[in-house]
Amino acid sequence: MAAQETRVLLPEDLKPINSLEEYKAAGGLQGLEKARSMSGQELIDLITKAGLRGRGGAGFPTGIKWNTVYNESGNKYVVCNFAEGEPGTFKDRYLISKNPYLMFEGLLITAHAMNAKEAVIGTKEKFTKVVPRITKVKEELEAAGIVEPGFIRIVLGPDEYLFGEEKGLLEVIDGRYPMPRMFPPYMVGIHWTPTENNPTVVNNVESMSHLPLIVRHGPEWFRSRGDDDTPGTGIISLTGDVKQPGMYEISLGMSVRDLIYGLGGGPRGKHEIKAVFSGVSNRVMTPDKFDLPLNFGELRANGVGLGSGGFMVYDESRWIVDLTWMFSHFLAQSSCGQCIPCNMGTRVITEHLLKIRDGVGTRADLDAIITETGRCTNQTRCFLPVQESVLIPSCIDNFPEEFEPGFDTSGFDRNILIPKIKDFDDETGQFIFEDAPKEFLQPK
Ligand SMILES: Cc1cc2nc3c(=O)[nH]c(=O)nc-3n(C[C@H](O)[C@H](O)[C@H](O)COP(=O)(O)O)c2cc1C
Ligand code: SF4
Repeated sequence: MAAQETRVLLPEDLKPINSLEEYKAAGGLQGLEKARSMSGQELIDLITKAGLRGRGGAGFPTGIKWNTVYNESGNKYVVCNFAEGEPGTFKDRYLISKNPYLMFEGLLITAHAMNAKEAVIGTKEKFTKVVPRITKVKEELEAAGIVEPGFIRIVLGPDEYLFGEEKGLLEVIDGRYPMPRMFPPYMVGIHWTPTENNPTVVNNVESMSHLPLIVRHGPEWFRSRGDDDTPGTGIISLTGDVKQPGMYEISLGMSVRDLIYGLGGGPRGKHEIKAVFSGVSNRVMTPDKFDLPLNFGELRANGVGLGSGGFMVYDESRWIVDLTWMFSHFLAQSSCGQCIPCNMGTRVITEHLLKIRDGVGTRADLDAIITETGRCTNQTRCFLPVQESVLIPSCIDNFPEEFEPGFDTSGFDRNILIPKIKDFDDETGQFIFEDAPKEFLQPK
């Protein structure tokens, strides 16, 4: 059977839902009403039974996270992570542009489950298309008496990758720079002071948007899509060298091949597909992995990952060194500098990769990269250097000959662009990307 989409979060006809009335007419708010008649523990049990795994990148079970916060002492808070800074990922903004009400309903369900004092949506000031939209929805919900005015706060943050890291996000909510804290957020939370815990649930936009449907239709309904490992649907951003790049909501468990060759239409030109990156946290995926199912567990068990569902596809016309440097450069530029091994390590690795990319690299550069990826994670506060230490060696392991000094790069398309997505045009089926920094141009 041909690969197909399964739209549950996205409207079936992709027509945006533009008013609370429209949302209610389609069954919206029934989940919240039901949730408000349930206790926090009943809701935690329900979400645990549904098997929802966080869609922010790590696939952490939402029920376990909620349970931890629920059983902590102190005032509780809930935060929706709408920072969406992962290269190649656009799902949260796409979902909000189609149906922002699900996220709000999910946020209020989470707040009810935690008996929270406040709910916060952390998003970026630069998301100028969606910020007015979520502001309007918040006002509509307040005017309709569904939420107390001021209970939901929208915090506009900077364009930093670390703003999406949950401990960086909490710092921004508290009025500081997105520099990750030492402690896991559920132990300290927002408005943290040394004498007080404010345990906080942080969930991604898509994770929260699944909640109203799970509560309304039940865990079995949710589990009827996806697979045992990762139940439910997921919204995929598919970019790069495929015929039909796009935004696809799929039943998880679909094979990588069905996504790339079915929905994506396969390679866009005469070259075969060579490497797929699911964001910048996982090992590069090569064609021998294409029959794996798109779920968190099996991809991880096979050394790759689902991430936040952003798949960047590259064909044989690309030089892997260009791509490796591009991702390393992104991570090095995103490192905030609080931990020396991360800050120095990611920069040093990027510099050695640049030498190889410029055709003046030697074996010593390759050795230095391997050494640095082994120690850039020492005593660091967040996951960013782990991403470097996972992704960079995987490129070298899978394509060792391409890193050899003197490797012939004639014939490669050297124009690369870090795929930071700005928008997606449904009509043309094309992504619009942010401008690449100047140094991304082809080396002379
Ligand atoms: C460097 C870095 C950047 C991240 N950026 C995002 C992001 O933009 N959006 C997001 O939801 N999660 C992001 N995460 C993951 C969050 O820290 C957190 O795990 C997630 O919001 C939890 O939500 P979930 O359990 O619903 O997935 C990032 C993590 C790291 C290490
Ligand atoms: S590990 Fe890197 S990015 Fe994370 S807090 Fe430390 S220096 Fe900043």
